Amino acid sequence: MPRLRKAVFPVAGFGSRFLPVTKASPKEMLPIVDKPLIQYAVEEAAAAGITDMIFVTGRNKRAIEDHFDKAYELETELERKGKDVLLEQVRSVLPEGVRCIYIRQAEPLGLGHAVLCAQSVVGADPFAVLLADDLMDAAPPAMARMAQVFEKEGSSLLGVEEVPRDQTQSYGIVTIDKMAGDLARIHSIVEKPRPAEAPSNLAVIGRYVLTPRIFELLAGISPGAGGEIQLTDAISQLLAHERVLALRLPGRRFDCGSKLGYLEAMVEYGLRHPETGEDFARYLKSR
Ligand code: UTP
Repeated sequence: MPRLRKAVFPVAGFGSRFLPVTKASPKEMLPIVDKPLIQYAVEEAAAAGITDMIFVTGRNKRAIEDHFDKAYELETELERKGKDVLLEQVRSVLPEGVRCIYIRQAEPLGLGHAVLCAQSVVGADPFAVLLADDLMDAAPPAMARMAQVFEKEGSSLLGVEEVPRDQTQSYGIVTIDKMAGDLARIHSIVEKPRPAEAPSNLAVIGRYVLTPRIFELLAGISPGAGGEIQLTDAISQLLAHERVLALRLPGRRFDCGSKLGYLEAMVEYGLRHPETGEDFARYLKSR
């Protein structure tokens, strides 16, 4: 089976649920304690053996390029002041053996369109898609589990999770065969169904492994839910050509695209951070 080497990070959305902070800077640069969401996602991909990080960026996303670039002046300054720990943190922002590629999505026409923008770089290889606002807290990391299953099964894979019925309208929703362990074949997929029309409460979350056939299908997709070119609609067509599997991912997901999920992540990661953990726990108890 081909190994998974490439990951696409669509980061060109408006991030409207986080306005005004997303007016001039990307949602994916929101920090969880001291690291931006996008860095957690890149580290997760690197831990899965992925080496080519392909960012689909848009307006106001320059901060992401800057974050992963080498910062000579900053490094020299930290070195001069003997701030070794900080120096190491800055140097290790980009995991070793990894390269970054940036593509522009000139207009945010939808997640499906953003993925299609990566076609020229992905070519004929299978690839992962990681939505950095779904922060996956798992050991081993969620994408490592997906890469392992992909290498065995060779099929497209969607990360899934049960969600409360009243939230189906925020997700792509799948119907499946019976789960065998954490894996099942997908029968159908629909984007953002109303609770009354949702065929199940099994939601697709921000982790995918896709075969390159998805590009042919994406090229023919018309705008769907919300007037956007939806990845879900192309996956729905892919089901007619190929087996697509649902994989229940290990660990806990924080929906950092929503304010509440973001705050929950901040509390959990703050409580276990070596610098803040103890004092923060004390503070939370005292209030
Ligand atoms: P979301 O549905 O979360 O949209 O996109 P959004 O614009 O980021 O946020 P809200 O809903 O307005 O608050 C899912 C992912 O797809 C990317 C986003 O950056 C996010 O990672 N995306 C979406 C694009 O890259 N391009 C698009 O045209 C749309």
